Amino acid sequence: MKIVKGGFRVWRSRLGFILAAVGSAVGLGNIWRFPYMVYENGGGAFLLPYFFAVLTAGIPMLVLEMGLGHKMRGSAPLAFRKIKEKYETLGWWAVLVTAVVTVYYSVIVAWAVNYMVFAVKQSWGADPNAFFFKDYLGATGFWDFGTIKTNVLLGLAVVWGITYVILYNGIKEGIEKASKIFMPLLIVLLGVMVVRGVTLPGAIEGLNHFLEPDFSVLKDYNVWVSAYGQVFFTLSLGFGIMIAYSSYLPKKSDVVNNAFITAFANCGFSFLSGFAVFGILGYMAQAQGVPINEVASGGIGLAFIVFPKAINLLPGMNSFFGILFFMSLVVAGLSSIISLVEAFTSSIMDKFKMTRKKAVSVVSLGGFLCTIVFATGLGISILDLVDHFLNNYGLAVVGLAECIILGYLWKLTTVKEHVNSVSDFKVGNWWDISIKYVTSIVLGYMLIMKVKTELTVAYGGYPTSALMTLGWGLVIALLVLAYVMKNISWNEDVLLDVNSAKEEI
Ligand code: ALA
Repeated sequence: MKIVKGGFRVWRSRLGFILAAVGSAVGLGNIWRFPYMVYENGGGAFLLPYFFAVLTAGIPMLVLEMGLGHKMRGSAPLAFRKIKEKYETLGWWAVLVTAVVTVYYSVIVAWAVNYMVFAVKQSWGADPNAFFFKDYLGATGFWDFGTIKTNVLLGLAVVWGITYVILYNGIKEGIEKASKIFMPLLIVLLGVMVVRGVTLPGAIEGLNHFLEPDFSVLKDYNVWVSAYGQVFFTLSLGFGIMIAYSSYLPKKSDVVNNAFITAFANCGFSFLSGFAVFGILGYMAQAQGVPINEVASGGIGLAFIVFPKAINLLPGMNSFFGILFFMSLVVAGLSSIISLVEAFTSSIMDKFKMTRKKAVSVVSLGGFLCTIVFATGLGISILDLVDHFLNNYGLAVVGLAECIILGYLWKLTTVKEHVNSVSDFKVGNWWDISIKYVTSIVLGYMLIMKVKTELTVAYGGYPTSALMTLGWGLVIALLVLAYVMKNISWNEDVLLDVNSAKEEI
C-alpha cells in the first residue's frame, strides 16, 4: 500500500518555490552580517573563501537537503525517520533548534517594525545608543527582568500575527503568495537604498573599505571558517527548512537547478546590501570627519545604533530613507520567519497528522508567548546568549550530523541518483567529495575550535548561572526533547507511508 504523503501540499509553480526558498535564505544574515563580515575579513579578498564555501558546502548541502525533502516527501523528522528510526532524533533536533531561533529572530524583526515607526520622526534623537538600550529596551543585567516594554510587545504581535495569517493560508495561498510580494518588494527597497548609498558624498571611500582586497588574510584559517559559517546560516541550512519546502515540489522538479538559483540569488542580495550599507557608512564617516573603522559595524549595533545615526545625518528625505531601511529588514526578516515556522509546523503536522490550521494556530500562539520574555529588560541579553549557543552548537552540529549520517552511515548515492534523475544538470563526484570531506571537515574543525574557546573564555562575560541554563542547558534540553519526540508514536497512516518509503529505498 502506498500513501503519498504531502501530495496535498504543493507549490503552484516553480517560481513560487524558488521565491520562497530565496525568501528564506535572504534575511538579516544578508543585510547586517554579510557586509561587515566582508569588511572585517579582508574585503574583496574574502570573496574567494566565500565563493569557495558556496560551491563546496552551500550548493552541495542545498542539493542534499532539497534532494532529501523531495525524495522523502516530508518534514525533517519524517524524512530522517524514513531513512532509519533512530535518525528521526536528528530531524527533531534540527526543527527544535529552528523553533528557538525563530523566537529570537522574531524579536529582532519586531524591533525593526518599531524602528520603522520611529524613523518617521527619528524618535531615537541625537543619541541612538542611549535611546536603544535605555529608553527603548530598558536593558538590565542578569537576573533582573526589569519591565515589559509595550512597544516591543506590540511589534512582536505584528510579526507573529502576519506569520500566522500567511501560514494559516497554506503553501499556495499563504507562503507562495507572500513570497511573490515580499521578494520583488525587497529588490525595490534594496535597489533604492543602493542608489541612495552609492551617490552620497564619501560613498566611494566606504565602498573602497568594503571591497579593497587584503590577500594576506587568506592564510588565516579563521577567515575560511567564517566564510563557511556565513554560507551555512545565510542559505538557511541545518534548519530543516529546505527539506520541508522541497517536499512540496511536484515529482518532476529540477532540484539541482533550484539549488543553484537559490544560492546565487541569495549572494546577489548580499552584495546589494553591502553596497547600500558601505555607501552610507562612507558618507557617515565623511560627514563626521572620522575614519571608516569608527562607524563600521554589523548586527544589532549596525541596524539600531549606527543606521539611526546615519539617517540623522542624511542630507534630505531622512524619514523616507529611514522607513525604507527598516522596512527592508522587516520584509527580509518576515520571509525568513515564515520558513522557520513552517519547518517546525510541518513536523508537528506530519507527526501528529494535525491539520495545518490547528498546527499553525498552536505554534504561532506558543511562539508569541515564548517571545514575551524578550520584551523584558533582560531580553537583549537572553537573545545574545541563546543566539551564540544555538548558532554555534545547534546549527553546526545539525549540519555535521547530516553530513555524517547521509555521507557515511547511509547511502549518499540514493540522494544523488534521485536528484540526477530529475535534474538537467547532474551532480558528479565533486558533490560527494564536498559533503563527505570538505563540509564535514570544516564543520568539525569549526566546532572543535569553538568549544575550545568557549571553555577558556566565558561568553560575553555573562554569569555562570546564565551560561549553564540558557546556553549549555538549552542546547542539552533540546537534544533530550528531540529524543523524547522521536519516541512518541506516529500516526498509523504516516507510519504506513514510512514503511512503504523504506521498501522503495
Ligand atoms: N537565512 C536567513 C538569514 O540569513 C535565516 O537571515
